[in-house]
Amino acid sequence: MASIESKLLNNVILTQDGILQVDHFLNHQLDIDLLEEAGKEIARRFKGEGVTKILTVESSGIPLACFTAQTMGVSAVYARKFQIGYMSEDVFETEVHSFSQNKAYTIRVSKKAIQDDDVVLIVDDFLANGMSILGLCEIVMEAGAEIAGVSVVFEKAYMDGPQLLRQRDVRVEALVTIARIENGVLVLE
Ligand code: G4P
Repeated sequence: MASIESKLLNNVILTQDGILQVDHFLNHQLDIDLLEEAGKEIARRFKGEGVTKILTVESSGIPLACFTAQTMGVSAVYARKFQIGYMSEDVFETEVHSFSQNKAYTIRVSKKAIQDDDVVLIVDDFLANGMSILGLCEIVMEAGAEIAGVSVVFEKAYMDGPQLLRQRDVRVEALVTIARIENGVLVLE
């Protein structure tokens, strides 16, 4: 049976500017079976770590967070990025600078959603610059909860995010780790 890593890689389309196109299975049209398998694999890697909550940021991390949470038997929370709506005003919030979009935005999580006795696993589709994931880490720390680690589908090991997290002693687990892109080809770690 093919590994989850090769299944994910088989689906990726690499563009000339080094972007992995995944909108046909991961962050627009959703391959439910593949996402479920990814969630199960993430859950397997963090089994026994006492995880009580899965945290992501809207929007692309949400399906992965749901499958991971379902497998681990815990609830999932997604930080709000776009609008507060009728969400409680009592929130943990932090500002995130996005290099790719060259703008800052605020992410918010209700104080009711994370407690100080939670052990939180952060998940997302990509880890590249890592600013939004670092923002999620800040929110978990502000809540006084523990960070079990960060798990992503694709880690771009040649960008700053992975190193910034490991410098903070945060465990990072990626289903696919890309060491670099060479002559238009993904080179794995
Ligand atoms: P950062 O803004 O938090 O620092 O994030 P990062 O550099 O890690 O990535 C910026 C955005 O671009 C993120 O989405 C991330 O998922 C996405 N991204 C990074 N590399 C790739 C890639 O190779 N392919 C694709 N398809 N996306 C990539 P976001 O702005 O958080 O948007 P959302 O989709 O979660 O709403």
